[in-house]
Amino acid sequence: MSRSGREILLGVGGGIAAYKSADLVRRLQDSGYLVTVVPTPASLNFVGSATWEALTGRPVQTQVWENVHAVPHISLAENADYIVIAPATADLIARLAQGRADDLLTNIVLASAVPKLIVPAMHPEMWHDRATADNVEVLRNRGFVVMEPDVGRLTGSDVGAGRFPDSGSIISELSAIVGRTSDLLGVKILITAGGTREAIDPVRFIGNRSSGKQGYAIAQAALARGATVRLVSANCDLPIPQGAQVTPVETADQMQDALEEFFEDSDVLVMCAAVADAKPRNLSEMKIKKKDLHSIELVANPDLLATISHNRKAGQIIVGFAAETSNLELHAQNKLDEKGLDMIFVNDVSGGAIFGSDQTHGRFLFKDAPGIEIAPTSKDTLAHELLNQVRNRLS
Ligand code: CTP
Repeated sequence: MSRSGREILLGVGGGIAAYKSADLVRRLQDSGYLVTVVPTPASLNFVGSATWEALTGRPVQTQVWENVHAVPHISLAENADYIVIAPATADLIARLAQGRADDLLTNIVLASAVPKLIVPAMHPEMWHDRATADNVEVLRNRGFVVMEPDVGRLTGSDVGAGRFPDSGSIISELSAIVGRTSDLLGVKILITAGGTREAIDPVRFIGNRSSGKQGYAIAQAALARGATVRLVSANCDLPIPQGAQVTPVETADQMQDALEEFFEDSDVLVMCAAVADAKPRNLSEMKIKKKDLHSIELVANPDLLATISHNRKAGQIIVGFAAETSNLELHAQNKLDEKGLDMIFVNDVSGGAIFGSDQTHGRFLFKDAPGIEIAPTSKDTLAHELLNQVRNRLS
């Protein structure tokens, strides 16, 4: 993600419509976007690198083997706010659907989590072919926005669906994505993720199975939608979402300190972390020998969420999570009420389900609206649904 929030990485596929993307570059620039072009090697048969370099004032590269020291697929992926692939040929769509990484552009697509707009252009027979239709469906299911090509005259004498849409339609499609994805611009979101650990001795601790995946997915989604994200991360072994400000913590007490430091200046708190409910009364400085390890006296940790929510300012939104193995709705409703939350997501964690998985399911309960059932879905999708609910409640 870039500082400007308006960096477009334009991938150009090897179709005759590549020349029309020269106009698209200009129109994107007129609309205030900064454009870097990454052509596929095949597309250079239609439009050479010099054209793209002259239009964008930026260097152009097609293969991962150039400028290797700069790790271009990662640096370009990190700098992009949106990826637009125009024109996308049948072959390029097939390679994207398969997750191939055989040129610089396909490497970047795999390395980037930003919104992606695909603009197909090809002969109608190729567009309507089952293989292409299946590949397009795969990409749409993965969250790519794939435009419908225009209908009309193609190169040669054929007529039908497959024409490259005009630059104006492509930019309005992009604007819709940008509008949709920047709906949390400037909103300050504090997210806790992972599970706290309470030391018993230098070797052992009381912990839990939370991986942090859900909290990290929410952080990633919030960043992509323009939010400022502070992530309080308890014992997670996950890549840091680019752009997040991260405060690592180990224990519930440290998490409480972080919440006290950052909550006042936040618009939203998403308390995704699993906080250990108790800690050993005494921390042994020395490793406890197993013959002495009969029982551990515990003292309760404070309820961080309840404490913070009772000290909140008007307008601050607080989201809790609940992990339950029985009477999900009843327990979650009690937590929503007792902890003074705006909403809560309850997971059924019977048998250790959901912990560490990329999938989740459960139910949202709200202070102000009927609950919503969430059928099995990815933690990324849940993150966006949670943020939609938050956005609707921001004043
Ligand atoms: N939570 C908290 N501080 C604690 C315990 C939990 O802030 N000491 C927060 C969690 O981050 C979560 C919510 O409270 O957002 C519910 O956590 P959960 O573990 O499901 O419930 P508990 O309150 O711990 O109750 P119980 O263990 O009895 O189910």
